[in-house]
Amino acid sequence: MALTSRPSCEAADAADPLAHALERFLVDGARIYMDGNSLGPPPAAALDAVTKVVRDQWRGGLISSWNRAGWLDQPFLLGDQVGELIGAAPGQVAICDSTSVNLFKLLAATLAHGRAEGRRAIVTTDDNFPTDLYVAGAAAELAGGTVLLSGAAGVDSGTAALTLSHVDYRTGRMLDMAAITAASHGAGAMVVWDLSHSAGAVPLALDEWGVDLAVGCTYKFLNCGPGAPAFLYVARRWQPVLANFVRGWFGHADPFAFSPAFTPAPGIARFMSGTPGIIGLAPVAAAMEAWSGVSMADVRAKSVAIAELLIERIDALGLEVASPRAAAERGPQVSVRSAEGYGLSRALGEAGVVVDFRPPDIVRFGITPLYLRFVDAWDAMDGLASVIAAGAHRDARWAERARVP
Ligand SMILES: Cc1ncc(COP(=O)(O)O)c(C=O)c1O
Repeated sequence: MALTSRPSCEAADAADPLAHALERFLVDGARIYMDGNSLGPPPAAALDAVTKVVRDQWRGGLISSWNRAGWLDQPFLLGDQVGELIGAAPGQVAICDSTSVNLFKLLAATLAHGRAEGRRAIVTTDDNFPTDLYVAGAAAELAGGTVLLSGAAGVDSGTAALTLSHVDYRTGRMLDMAAITAASHGAGAMVVWDLSHSAGAVPLALDEWGVDLAVGCTYKFLNCGPGAPAFLYVARRWQPVLANFVRGWFGHADPFAFSPAFTPAPGIARFMSGTPGIIGLAPVAAAMEAWSGVSMADVRAKSVAIAELLIERIDALGLEVASPRAAAERGPQVSVRSAEGYGLSRALGEAGVVVDFRPPDIVRFGITPLYLRFVDAWDAMDGLASVIAAGAHRDARWAERARVP
């Protein structure tokens, strides 16, 4: 169905197999939220989930809750649920720490593993997310290695790991994970994928695609809360082989034996470090409930349809689309490139359309099919047209930038 009018969008919403998911989230209806690629809204069950942990398990059970409320198993049970959304069989995903810390663990592991073969380089690209560049630099510095910014084409016999973001945070460009992974394996290198902008947004098949290692945020498309613990994926075949250099007692085979000698846990648990943040895991559980029964194929189909609507209307306004035009090369966002981008993002916000800005000139429209309707996308584009017509993006107030743009 061509989405060329508001009534056609209403009809698409009426036929949408994901329409029922909207009520699983606390979205206020007063604003159109197109920033779920930065911070997803709370799942409706999040408040109760946090209350239950604080009131019943923490206050009620106190220390006994480590055993009785199953706190110890949370990072792995929830990890398996995230695993389902990214094509990972159970036992390969843990929820812990931040994406930055998890990336450090995995890159350090690849550098240590590669050393025997003289593989001392981490290969990435200069447009990768800044934290990924910082972490790669730190891991390489510590291991006496180097970071090369040559991208996948630069992978060779000196490469310990290639690390890339599957979906670019600025433009939404999506890479061919299966092909890049296979090509790197051909050169004997591992690949560490950052799935922050694709987990919960596009169908992923990590096991099937032969992925080695991956990390990602849970606070964007997965809706687990601001600063929620991230996930890491270590393919089963690598678990007995790789070491965790943010080695802590929760990665020990028997943390409560309090042994001075470190014996790594078998399986994914060895990539844990310290005590899991149990309160922070409560909204992760609520979010996984909100995701239950959702087909990633439905998510992707709706995401692509909304992206095409956005691109058509952005083109009609004469603005530059910075995202790839081919759906297969585009993740769950449409970006506009404009020298007036910051003003556009702020004026849109004031008009009730929440988007964000990434320097130097990118406005991002995030597409989150569980709670974004086709009419919302249509209305957001009406909002953009009105902002431009009124020149609201040129308001002198936007000369000063907010701390979080
Ligand atoms: C691609 C990517 N990687 C990593 C991060 C940061 O992750 P964390 O704050 O969990 O370390 C972000 C945050 O936006 C991101 O977009």
